[in-house]
Amino acid sequence: MYFWPVAKIGTSIDEAVQWLHKDLVAIPTETVYGLAANALSESLVLKIFEVKKRPTFDPLIVHTSAIDRVYEYCTDFPEPLKHLAEALWPGPLTLLLNKKAIIPDITTSGLNKVGIRIPAHPLTLKLLHVLDFPLAAPSANPFGYISPTKADHVQHQLGSEIPYILDGGDCSIGIESTIVGMEGNEICIYRLGGASIQEIESIVGKVKVKVMKGSNPMAPGMLDVHYAPRKPLFVFKSIDDGLKKFGNRKITAILAQKPDVMPENIQSLWLSDDGDVKQMAQRLFHTLRMADQSDSDIILAQWVPQSGLGYAINDRLKRASTK
Ligand code: TXA
Ligand code: MG
Repeated sequence: MYFWPVAKIGTSIDEAVQWLHKDLVAIPTETVYGLAANALSESLVLKIFEVKKRPTFDPLIVHTSAIDRVYEYCTDFPEPLKHLAEALWPGPLTLLLNKKAIIPDITTSGLNKVGIRIPAHPLTLKLLHVLDFPLAAPSANPFGYISPTKADHVQHQLGSEIPYILDGGDCSIGIESTIVGMEGNEICIYRLGGASIQEIESIVGKVKVKVMKGSNPMAPGMLDVHYAPRKPLFVFKSIDDGLKKFGNRKITAILAQKPDVMPENIQSLWLSDDGDVKQMAQRLFHTLRMADQSDSDIILAQWVPQSGLGYAINDRLKRASTK
């Protein structure tokens, strides 16, 4: 009999440390689970790209444990970005900073800047404190698919490729970090994420949002199609609009909020119980996975309110949708 190998799922920092000296480990963060390796090891970083089937032109984020450590990996730390880091780290913010040679080119896909962040998950923070190297970690999903927010999501898709998943429970924020950098004196957001535009502007003033360009070379990961389920997904202002178009198909509907009256003849899922946008973000990727695993042949989703994390959620829905 042949047993397909699976990753061990556990909460041991020691075991994670041992594996990270020679292999990849999935780690929990407050945003999504990451597929982590020693960011300073070319061969291990290459393995991340192979396991994810990710093109090597799409750079990885480097995770560290303390602001002071940024100076080990970056040549400078512009004041406004340092200010943001002091306010929001540990947290869902990635900063693009000029890298030192210690960060291998493969980690940044040959770019001069490295994306760096301190994640706000207690287990992973502990792990990063113990390690004497930073961790490169993209989201722990096959390239282009929905990001994982539970250890089981990682096991389901990458379990046969990695030895260990550090189980930190459900991710509390549920969408990836906001990516911020500078062009001249201008502060730019390159990916909408767990730190909202308003939150960032309340700390450093007006910023420029430069996220919707699928061919933007600064952020190759911002491809037009990303975070996508295998089933076709279409997004509407209201599910009724979608039903007018696709009413003859077998549908799973993803509503922004639990409805007062259940729609008939369609399977309904919802992102929040009472309209809380943070809850919508936290449940988004799990709900997309459930819809993808259902027996329907098409997913209809509803745009969420454009406030707070709503912008980032709608960005993910847009990229996940069928073009
Ligand atoms: O919340 C997150 O950021 C999660 C957790 C695990 O930390 N990570 C994550 O990684 O979302 P990933 O690889 O799925 O998305 C990272 C994206 C890349 O696709 C790219 O767009 C951008 O970050 N990025 C990373 N380094 C960059 C760089 N040096 N220059 C421009 N963009 C960069
Ligand atoms: Mg990703």
